[in-house]
Amino acid sequence: MSPECELLRRCIPTSKGRPPLRSLNVLVTGAGGGMCQGINLRLAEPGHTIICVDLDAERSEAAAGAVRSAGGKAYAFAVDVTEPDRIKRLHRDIHEKVGGVQAIVNAVGVLDRKMLLDLDVKSFARVLNINLTGPFAVIREFAQDLLDEDWGRIVNISSIAGTTGYPYPSYAASKAGLSNLTRSLLVDFWGTGITVNSVCPGVVDTQMVIQEVRDQVPDKVPTARIVTPEEIGALIAFLLTDEARSINGADLLIDGGATSVFRLFDPRQA
Ligand SMILES: NC(=O)c1ccc[n+]([C@@H]2O[C@H](COP(=O)([O-])OP(=O)(O)OC[C@H]3O[C@@H](n4cnc5c(N)ncnc54)[C@H](O)[C@@H]3O)[C@@H](O)[C@H]2O)c1
Repeated sequence: MSPECELLRRCIPTSKGRPPLRSLNVLVTGAGGGMCQGINLRLAEPGHTIICVDLDAERSEAAAGAVRSAGGKAYAFAVDVTEPDRIKRLHRDIHEKVGGVQAIVNAVGVLDRKMLLDLDVKSFARVLNINLTGPFAVIREFAQDLLDEDWGRIVNISSIAGTTGYPYPSYAASKAGLSNLTRSLLVDFWGTGITVNSVCPGVVDTQMVIQEVRDQVPDKVPTARIVTPEEIGALIAFLLTDEARSINGADLLIDGGATSVFRLFDPRQA
């Protein structure tokens, strides 16, 4: 083979030498929510077991049921992520049922549509407790398991609202905190096979998004379309692979380019 052909051969990607896809136990918080309807199914496709955790027992059961109906493996747990004792019990239950987790997807989150003067300290603290302290508590509880395996994946669903100014301070502060929590954990996992990333969606086709915002999408998002939960799921599915091992500490925007042209948005109408 000529040197040119040899060079070309090396540049063409082949499945040879690619690390095998692992089957993981993936703990998903907020698993009963709209976005997770796309995430759970997409993650179950390559054979991962989805551990659906949600405050609402009916929602977590429905989420696990949807995965099973599609031929996947799933378990349901009703857990409030703001209750550390309940998270400890979840840890024990998961060990009994499936032996542990190798990946955590923190999709839990609430949006309180209150601007500064309507927002009291208690409401602010409540949103931070669910959106930031909750994911932290889950990661804290399961971190040693990932360290013991010397491999793991943590994906926190943040938001473009955590990367820019946003009219609802509790939500924006919680998501900015979550993105920076993500980056801060890299030091703890230094030199291991554990990666930690944030996914920052823009406007996603879920109930969280009000009609006025949906109506603005064609004019204000460069792709002129709303992001689907399945697209978020596809991105996370890639992050869980071995091939994604060099993506670490990233804030991965999945917003159709909206943040790149952010001034087009009038944040007062978000
Ligand atoms: N929908 C969007 O356009 C959008 C955009 C950017 C980021 N996000 C983020 O994506 C994630 C999922 O959003 P979604 O649209 O699916 O929201 P959703 O409201 O449909 O789902 C959130 C889920 O979290 C659960 N939950 C709430 N508090 C909990 C607690 N204390 N413990 C356990 N579970 C709890 C709820 O029961 C619900 O099932 C959230 O973190 C959200 O902030 C959403």
